[in-house]
Amino acid sequence: MESFKKILRPYQERVDMELRQFDNFTEVELLRDPIAYFFTLPGKRIRPLITLITAEHFYNSYENAIPSAVAIEVLHDFTLVHDDIMDDDRFRRGCETVHAKWDLGTAVLSGDAMIALAYRKLLTSSSPQLMTMINAFTDGMYVVCEGQARDKAFETRDDVNLDDYLLMISQKTARLISLAFEFGYLSSASTTDALGALKEMGEHIGLAFQVRDDLLDFMADEKALGKDVGSDWRRKKKTYLTIGYHQKATANPQLPQDLFALPEFPAARDAVVEAGIVAEAQEFIDQQLHRAESIADAINFSHPVLHHLLQFLAKRGY
Ligand code: IPE
Ligand code: IPE
Ligand code: MG
Ligand code: MG
Ligand code: MG
Repeated sequence: MESFKKILRPYQERVDMELRQFDNFTEVELLRDPIAYFFTLPGKRIRPLITLITAEHFYNSYENAIPSAVAIEVLHDFTLVHDDIMDDDRFRRGCETVHAKWDLGTAVLSGDAMIALAYRKLLTSSSPQLMTMINAFTDGMYVVCEGQARDKAFETRDDVNLDDYLLMISQKTARLISLAFEFGYLSSASTTDALGALKEMGEHIGLAFQVRDDLLDFMADEKALGKDVGSDWRRKKKTYLTIGYHQKATANPQLPQDLFALPEFPAARDAVVEAGIVAEAQEFIDQQLHRAESIADAINFSHPVLHHLLQFLAKRGY
């Protein structure tokens, strides 16, 4: 894990440097301050990393991919600011969420402005495929909203099955990870030969990414995670763990039948572990990442960072 952090650092520093250039994009403090605040929080920068290493692998340099890599991080940041409002969370990246530190209206507006900043950055790309990228970006952003709407609607439903869940996370999370690969590839090329395979890789990595996120919501050390642990349980989210748990409980009367009716989060966490669903979630993660690796092998995508990234995503604690 330490070695991955080291490998990641030059890419992360470059993205952070680009994000700092937004520091003075406006003199209006109520827009500038929350956005600058959010951009300086220690995000993992996984999506721009994916874009940059994809470009580096196919074109030996990531320079042409910088605008799209930064655009996708800014778009992701917009989704986080609004997601924290939707999920009523107070902590993000180890710090206060924007709506907690400022207020609801300021957080909504900051997220809105981030969308504009993301487009502005993307439009500075000199790729011959820019029009394709703008379309993919727009579609991706819409699909994330649809995924978020499903996620919210599922909070008040108790008939959500695994397929419903997989579609929801494919939209809210996997789509942007696919887009990150797509952007790296489209940053210079005029062909689209490897596009399908790269998008498929992104889909598998994205599913693994969200299931690991769901697992961490139950199991992580809150300080290391930098987010509110137990948030999904409190909001009755339908996650890989809560859906799987209820399936197991139906077959096993010894288990508490309604995870969400337990009096406190530690009891829910214990029940989830006891039911064996944490281990099953990890199997799903490993399987999806393995599929991604097979696709990478098939198209000779052999960037050394990719291998470390997949290992990190399997076991990450934040
Ligand atoms: C969190 O994404 C939102 C999900 C899609 C699960 P990350 O875990 O990549 O968040 P940061 O950018 O590192 O904070
Ligand atoms: C996040 O899902 C998906 C998006 C931000 C689009 P979560 O709500 O599980 O993400 P975290 O756990 O708050 O980061
Ligand atoms: Mg959330
Ligand atoms: Mg959410
Ligand atoms: Mg989560």
